[in-house]
Amino acid sequence: MGKREERARPDPARIGEIIAQYRDEKWPLIPVLQKIQDECGYVPPESIGSIAEAFDLFPSQVQGVISFYEHLYTVPRGKKIVRVCRGTACHVRGGKTVLKLVKQNLGVEEGQTTPDMEYTLETVACIGVCALAPNIVIGKETHGHMNPKKVSQLFARRRGEE
Ligand code: FES
Repeated sequence: MGKREERARPDPARIGEIIAQYRDEKWPLIPVLQKIQDECGYVPPESIGSIAEAFDLFPSQVQGVISFYEHLYTVPRGKKIVRVCRGTACHVRGGKTVLKLVKQNLGVEEGQTTPDMEYTLETVACIGVCALAPNIVIGKETHGHMNPKKVSQLFARRRGEE
């Protein structure tokens, strides 16, 4: 079974083991959620009850923590996160078109993941490199001065053109 398939079906026994590892920690909740996410790719919603019970919390408290921290997720995400900047500098230099083209290339809307679990598409307020606008980030790599041709080149392999 491949890694992605394993991620698609979180093992409740393994989640129980992770919870047990953190039982005696003073502040266990964030580390246990992070560890579960590292292994499963997200925090499976069905694990929230067990986590709450193990640490004497209400499920709503665990859910509240997950919602508070942007880096914790309760839905599976793609291997690569594509972030299109929708900040002002990027917007005025064609960011809207870049976003439209990225959506077309990936075949998903903002917040969605491609069916093969390769990419999740997000938008961000500002990546912090406005001088290179418009920008997108794929994984950890920033791509500046984006235009339709560059977007096309970035996703050419995905379209089977390389
Ligand atoms: S507005 Fe896009 S990088 Fe700042």
